[in-house]
Amino acid sequence: MRFDTIIANGTVVNANKTTKADVGIIGETIAQVDKGLAKKAAADGTRIIDATGCYVIPGGIDVHVHLALPFCGTTSSDDYNTGTRAAARGGVTSVIDFAIPYAGESLQQAVDNWMAKADGKACVDYTFHVALTDWKRHRGEMADLVKKGFPTFKQFMIYAREGWQADDAAIFGALEQVRDLNGMLLIHAESSRVLDELIERHHNEDEMRKLGAQLHGITRPNFVEAEAIQRAVTWAEATGGRLYIVHMSTAEGTDIIRAAHKRGLDNVFAETCAQYLVLDDSLFAEPDGHLYACCPQIKKKSDQKRLWKGLASDTVCVVSTDTCTFTREQKAMWQGDWTKIPMGLPGLETLLPIVYTHGVQKGKLTMQEFVDKVSHSPAKIMGLGDRKGAIKKGYDADIAILHPKHRIEVKPSEMETNADWSPYEGWKLAGFSRTTLSRGRVIVDDYKFCGQNGWGKWLRRESAGVV
Ligand code: URP
Ligand code: ZN
Ligand code: ZN
Repeated sequence: MRFDTIIANGTVVNANKTTKADVGIIGETIAQVDKGLAKKAAADGTRIIDATGCYVIPGGIDVHVHLALPFCGTTSSDDYNTGTRAAARGGVTSVIDFAIPYAGESLQQAVDNWMAKADGKACVDYTFHVALTDWKRHRGEMADLVKKGFPTFKQFMIYAREGWQADDAAIFGALEQVRDLNGMLLIHAESSRVLDELIERHHNEDEMRKLGAQLHGITRPNFVEAEAIQRAVTWAEATGGRLYIVHMSTAEGTDIIRAAHKRGLDNVFAETCAQYLVLDDSLFAEPDGHLYACCPQIKKKSDQKRLWKGLASDTVCVVSTDTCTFTREQKAMWQGDWTKIPMGLPGLETLLPIVYTHGVQKGKLTMQEFVDKVSHSPAKIMGLGDRKGAIKKGYDADIAILHPKHRIEVKPSEMETNADWSPYEGWKLAGFSRTTLSRGRVIVDDYKFCGQNGWGKWLRRESAGVV
């Protein structure tokens, strides 16, 4: 067999197996994984990428990003150009964004809007979850969207201000529908009534002057998330619909998911995000503490510990980023009032480095568990498991080559993201991608982006939550 590219001499890490092998690629696809491929190909002009001393892993799959999202009175400032360049540099080769209908729009209109954002810009493959923001209208449109390759839907328990909020009846109904459509419902779980009450109680000049951005943490205690997760799990148990809790940030949430699994519920999934594993709410007391405001807010060190354990035990099955980048200038819109901070963090470029450095290097995850949580499980759960998330014959040649020890200091000015700051600024992280391939094409070489806008393709999916 003649290959176009061979990745030689690396350690190939899949979620279930680690082997010393070469990876032979023909066109966009992995054609063979075996020892000695490079030796045999020596004279026939094949491109050989030497991975000696490196891990060769399936490209990361970030199933939770918001690129160019109108939100909190502004628009998130990583779009499909900078966002997917950042993804590539971080070793992420597929992203799933959220198509959110504006008032009065159909689900199809939302998808069309998001397709237009990605078209000609995306450097890695992409697709969308579709948000149900007007239940009476959108309930009748879900079946059509599944037929068109969009089996994952999203509801928010909060964000009345944005016009996105779903009530319990809508969530219950949506779970029934995804059950019947072979799809899955993603939920942003926070208890809106209690959250609004806490915000109102603290929204006064005195406290804002004294506590500033710390009020973001004070008004979002753990029970705001935990109660909401419990409620969503209850509806999933009652309906049998597949439920995926996004950006879970608390120890209590993790315990609720664990208890659900112990009761035998195999239709309940939870992801956490890199920021909840390594950042804590003491940051809100820093002079630029408002930069760290995201939703849900970052919690305590004890929550981090429980989330890492949840990952290692498969209670939590995915690490994503919830990338929703706002620049310093955008964050400055708060002017001392925490309810006006654009909520969200940059993250695509640092997902793999954070989980590798703080998970694998610190002994909290094995290398295979790392690959499972950032690539294999997200692919499988989101309906991409037949072509993404593994280094395997017939799969897309989406590959990241990581040096186990090479550390790079996080410096926003040297990154692909449009963010002019990073929660991890100054951190020295291993796990950046030395070489990234997207469907066989090298898009990062020697840690530098060398891909092309428009290379990324939309990913059709048939079902979700089937594991
Ligand atoms: O802070 C965040 N997460 N912004 C994006 C919106 C969301 O809830 O995911
Ligand atoms: Zn959310
Ligand atoms: Zn989000």
